[in-house]
Amino acid sequence: MLALALATVSSASAAGKLEIFSWWSGDEGPALDALVKLYKQKYPSVTVDNATVSGGAGTNAKAVLKTRMLGGTPPDSFQAHAGQELIGTWVVANRMEDLSSLFKSEGWAKAFPADVISLVSSKGGIWSVPVNVHRSNVMWYNPAKLKAWGVTAPKTWAEFLTTCSTLKAKGVAAPLVVGENWTQQHLWENVMVGSLGAQGWQNLWSGKTKFTDPKVVAAFTTFGKVMDCANKDASGLSWQQASDRIVDGTSAFNIMGDWAAGYFTTTKKLAPNTGFGWTTAPGTSGTFVMLADAFGLPKGAKDRTEAINWLRVLGSKQGQDTFNPLKGSIAARLDSDLSKYNTYSKSAAADWKKNKIVGSMTHGAVAPESFTSAFGAVIDQFVASKNAQGAAAAAQQLANKAGIGK
Ligand code: GAL
Repeated sequence: MLALALATVSSASAAGKLEIFSWWSGDEGPALDALVKLYKQKYPSVTVDNATVSGGAGTNAKAVLKTRMLGGTPPDSFQAHAGQELIGTWVVANRMEDLSSLFKSEGWAKAFPADVISLVSSKGGIWSVPVNVHRSNVMWYNPAKLKAWGVTAPKTWAEFLTTCSTLKAKGVAAPLVVGENWTQQHLWENVMVGSLGAQGWQNLWSGKTKFTDPKVVAAFTTFGKVMDCANKDASGLSWQQASDRIVDGTSAFNIMGDWAAGYFTTTKKLAPNTGFGWTTAPGTSGTFVMLADAFGLPKGAKDRTEAINWLRVLGSKQGQDTFNPLKGSIAARLDSDLSKYNTYSKSAAADWKKNKIVGSMTHGAVAPESFTSAFGAVIDQFVASKNAQGAAAAAQQLANKAGIGK
């Protein structure tokens, strides 16, 4: 009877379909699955095709998306990072629908912080709906292991290097664990923010400071020394496999976004503070390096009505408080119910309110995709050669090409 009543209510979208596209597969999937379940409760007659292309940070998914967008078969709605990643690629190419009227009808202008709305806006339009806020500048560790080794979490990159030597002397071969290329970019951005400060980091993306500035070159050199503390098999490790090495005590530290908190709690069932510990990445206390996952509506979506309803669900308070406690992120909305979140997320939410906020490059907030994807090669070359001047010059060339500071 109830099923019948619901079916009648949603008869407008009877036998509807919805294809959403993201990189949240496998053990990155539970938060999205919960959101899809909520959508299905609201729109029971719609069949959801939850299409995923696995690979952390969307490196693989973005390539598949490009083929589909250019081939004229876009998914109905797809994941993209809030900020320059979507704007610099699909908005400038005129492939996205302006969601301003949806923001208006849902009252989202007041529900989201103004800075978050401005991150997803350009040229008078609003181009995606943020489902969360993740933090990039977190250093994860295993509390029991640090105690056993007799070290504490370092507060600056200089201290980090000293702690690294101490741990090596105690037989820890790789005090730091890193994974494949994008996780090294992620580490690089944290060394930069920790060395240049929040304002110095922002100056790179406004073009005020060149990558060839001596301070930036020096930070590259620091990054090289930090990489000397890391495992030698980095390129073959996913971010989850890198996180596992904190859990099993192989390495002392990992710099990763707080999807790692989602992995530790949701997948590994570990408790914050005992199963895993965290602090801000060295030199970044008082700064919150943010990124947000968002979904947009491509022009030509086959199931446009269903896609708009999907955006409604993920932008709602209920949607965000269903998704984020499992994901490790906090809600992008201002009215989130923090009692649903664990101790880690509560600490992130408190910092989000009081810290200086800057955007992540690796995860699409401050730089266009053309910079971020090409920067991978700069990191690879630098890690092999440790030539800081050369890497800084190559990065500046990419910045010029991507129009950064123009
Ligand atoms: C980020 C994304 C996160 C998480 C992470 C690892 O780019 O914003 O939600 O999925 O990649 O894949």
